[in-house]
Amino acid sequence: MTTVAVILAAGMGKRMKSRMPKVLHPILGDPALLWVLRALPTELEAAIVVIHHGKEKVLAALESWRKEELLPCRVLTIDQGEPLGTGHAVRICAAELDRLKASRVVILSGDVPLIRAETVAALCTSEGSLLAMELPDPDGYGRVIQNLDGSLSTLVEQRDASPAEQAITLVNGGAYALPWSLLRPALHRLKNNNAQGEFYLTDAVADIASKHAIQVNFCDTEELAGMNSRNDQAALQASAQWRINTSWMKQGVSFLDASSTFLGPRVRLEQDVLIEPLVRMEGLVHVGAGTHVGQGSIIAGGEIGKEVSIRPYSIIEGAKIGNHCVVGPFARLREGTELQSNVHVGNFVETKQTLLKQGAKANHLAYLGDSEVGENSNVGAGVIFCNYDGVSKHRTTIGKDAFIGSDTQLVAPVTIGAGVVIAAGSTITGDVPDHALAMTRATLVLKAEGAIRYWERLKKKT
Ligand code: UD1
Ligand code: CA
Repeated sequence: MTTVAVILAAGMGKRMKSRMPKVLHPILGDPALLWVLRALPTELEAAIVVIHHGKEKVLAALESWRKEELLPCRVLTIDQGEPLGTGHAVRICAAELDRLKASRVVILSGDVPLIRAETVAALCTSEGSLLAMELPDPDGYGRVIQNLDGSLSTLVEQRDASPAEQAITLVNGGAYALPWSLLRPALHRLKNNNAQGEFYLTDAVADIASKHAIQVNFCDTEELAGMNSRNDQAALQASAQWRINTSWMKQGVSFLDASSTFLGPRVRLEQDVLIEPLVRMEGLVHVGAGTHVGQGSIIAGGEIGKEVSIRPYSIIEGAKIGNHCVVGPFARLREGTELQSNVHVGNFVETKQTLLKQGAKANHLAYLGDSEVGENSNVGAGVIFCNYDGVSKHRTTIGKDAFIGSDTQLVAPVTIGAGVVIAAGSTITGDVPDHALAMTRATLVLKAEGAIRYWERLKKKT
């Protein structure tokens, strides 16, 4: 059996009221389409994504996911042209499905993001089935009518349904596994003489069901919920949040307030991680055992070691943090930051493309850009690495056991040797050799009782 998935993603998603194609709207940081693609099994021959509205954006997103190796299998795209219905969308793929020698076609919707990998895997071994769910309020969905043995009899879209059919609460989830040999002719027989003037995929499925048994498989409503509006998006986000957070709790992670913690699907947490309220983590994140993530922190990509303390309101953007580090409160670790173990980066410190070696500290109000700070060196309060001359960026390198006094500016490119002491308030514009003491300072001017004369002078003026 050669199984090919077709993912429908060409519609514009009018009800989202957005300039961005619907399938790119995120659920906990990852676009809906990426959730669907990541649920595909790696054994698939290929997945064809049918695109049209906003296709440049969808193509760019697919390309970036391919580069980041987020796609489990080969993904092709086909432009549907003007979308004339879900049946038309699959029919457009016929030549490609023939070329791929597909024997089974698994069809999913790009706007049904929470379908689980297990569910898709089961669909990929089926001889013919569709996923359905029981909805107390079935409004908007197609209705499923079963034969006495439970297999599919037919499908009716809401807008074409009689009042009796509208009362049916078993709805079509829009996910199917169908033999290509039967689907192919059924698609060619499709007509658009229905309420919406569209070529319905559901009509092709019903056509197949008249000759070949199609199983109706029941699914959780959460898995098959579609994203058609911003309300749906918020509801999907809430279910995804609950699904993800409860799964981490089962694996030994504590939340002070799971309802205000937002963890994306690519976040990995080890045992005894403790997460305070209002934390958001998205993209590819790994947090080691026993690490504590303080209130209001955002981790957008990052590799965080064991027993790290991320204090409240820290922002981590793709940084690597070693074991036993202390970060924040209010620290910002930007791209290319690497902290080896036992490093301390304190409040109002920003780092970018910077390596802080083991035991190094920058505890207060500093900017460290394009730099390397040696083992156990101490960067004082208010230190600035002046990395940018207005045209290019330059590097600052500091050896081990150095002491950079408060309010120093290191004007890059500059190399500070091991064991160096730089006096507070210096502006360092040249290299400093190992174990030297460097200072640049205006002379101290002292006037005896000058303060008294100063105030007298001011008072006279008023
Ligand atoms: C569809 C089903 C309905 C089912 C529901 C489940 C049909 C006719 N109806 O309705 O029975 O209950 O899904 O979610 O299939 N798309 C294209 N090209 C098109 C039209 C749509 O690629 O020409 C894509 C859309 O972008 C979307 C998906 O197909 O990702 C589903 O289309 P949508 O218009 O949302 O169908 P529903 O009305 O939800
Ligand atoms: Ca839909």
